[in-house]
Order: sequence, then structure tokens, then C-alpha cells
Amino acid sequence: MDIKESIRRNFARRAGSYDRHADVQRLMAQGLLARVQEELAHPRRILEVGCGTGYLTALLCRSNGGGELVALDLDAALIEEARRRLGPDARVSWLVTDGESFSQGDFDLIIANATFQWFTQPGATLRAYFQALSPGGCLAFSTLGPETFGELDVSMRQAAAAMNLETAPEITARRFLNSRDWEDLLTRAGFSRVQMARQIITAHFPNVPDFLRALKALGATNPRPRPFSPRLFNALIQAYEARFRQNGSVPVTYEVIWSLARK
Ligand SMILES: C[S@@+](CC[C@H](N)C(=O)[O-])C[C@H]1O[C@@H](n2cnc3c(N)ncnc32)[C@H](O)[C@@H]1O
Repeated sequence: MDIKESIRRNFARRAGSYDRHADVQRLMAQGLLARVQEELAHPRRILEVGCGTGYLTALLCRSNGGGELVALDLDAALIEEARRRLGPDARVSWLVTDGESFSQGDFDLIIANATFQWFTQPGATLRAYFQALSPGGCLAFSTLGPETFGELDVSMRQAAAAMNLETAPEITARRFLNSRDWEDLLTRAGFSRVQMARQIITAHFPNVPDFLRALKALGATNPRPRPFSPRLFNALIQAYEARFRQNGSVPVTYEVIWSLARK
């Protein structure tokens, strides 16, 4: 199965459970919205990429004083959830499409929350967004960096070593681009006045299985899963709990990156 199709299916299967587990994604959206307040002082033509169940879409709708809003996502079930959240009167044009092949338009603001980490051709996509922005337009996004789920990565490698496996199954987040990578790509795509911000957010879960269940419920799992045995799974949980449990909970690191760039 092609990688885009796997990403789409991962999220689509979780359309009904995403919102219950998306605390960090909501924090990311709030941070993003705070950064574009000035942009929204006047109604704008906005493109939102990867709108998912519509949390940011609803905030944008409220802040954009009747301006134009196009919201797209790879998956139809998520768009359906978003449409339900915003209600029939919302002035949003919904599109089911790949945000990496969408380039037409003349937008003042292109915005995306917690989505760009899934891009497969970020350089070409940023160049296309540069073209789709009006002069002076703004690209604003939040994404996750490669330090995300660091505890899971360490524990997975420890568990694999304890079982004498040659390689440990990869934690997808290790491949996410870091803040410097995004800054370089934005500059090369033609953007100026690029502002980056980064924050480590630590979430806490009662135990490791609860965290893994939440990850699954969000659809944020490996799009190229390598099946691993129940023994490795148990060893992973043990390693994580032994190394990281503190004060009755286990920590989960998120490396959050926000970016604002101008055409
Ligand atoms: C973590 S969710 C975030 C959803 C929403 N922005 C939020 O803040 O709740 C990532 C979303 O990006 C979508 N997505 C991933 N890659 C995409 C792409 N290439 N084009 C459009 N949407 C994409 C997924 O379907 C999913 O809805």
C-alpha cells in the first residue's frame, strides 16, 4: 500500500476517537492561532491543510470575520467529522485531497496544525504553497520534531537489545524534520522573515499501554508498520516503565515546532 494511503487510513480509522486524545494537538493549535492573530485582524482568504476533525477550522472560522476559508484533508471521514463540528451554516469549502498536490489559489494565509510532519515531499510542497500565496501572504504551521516520543525510542531499542534483535522497529517520529530543516526548506522555497519556535511538552499517562492506546486512537501510528511480537511489546512496556516511571505516571515527550513565514 502506498504511504499516503496508509497515513490516510490510520487517521480515517480514528475519526471517532481522535478528539478525546488530542490534548497536545489542541495546545499546538492554540499556539498557532496566537501567532496569526495579527493576520486575522482583517478577513482573509485562508487555506487550512490537514483540517482533520476541524478543531482549528472552528477557531479560524470564528476569528476570520466572514473571510474565505478552504479546509482540506486526505480523508473524507475526517472532513465529515469537521463538517459536523462546524454545522451546516459554516462558510467553509471542504475538500478531500492531498495537501501536497494542492497548489492552485491566491491565499493570504496557508495554515496547518500538526500535519506537516506527515509530508513526504516537504520541499516541493513548500514551493507550491509559496506560489499559492498572494504577495505578502503568510504560511503558518505547527509540526512535531524528531525528539517526539524519545522515551518510546529509547525503550524500544533497549527492549530489542535485551531480546538480541539486530534492529529495533523504528519509531516514526525519529524521521520527522527538525526546526533547522524546516527553516532551510522555507528559505529555499523563497519565504522570508521566517520565524521558528520550539517547545518540549511533556504529557503524562498512568501507564505505557494507556499511552500506546492513545497513540492508536489518534491515528498517529507508523504508516509503514513492521509487525512485532507480543514478547517485544511486553519487553518494550517493561523497559519504558522501569526507566521512566516517576511519581505514579509515565512521561511522553512532544517536540512542538511552530513556524511563521512570509512571501
Ligand atoms: C494529527 S492530525 C491533525 C488534525 C487537525 N489539524 C488538528 O489539529 O486536530 C493530522 C491530519 O493531517 C492529515 N494529513 C496528513 N497528511 C496529509 C496530506 N498530505 N494532505 C492533507 N491532509 C493530510 C491527516 O488526515 C490528519 O487529519
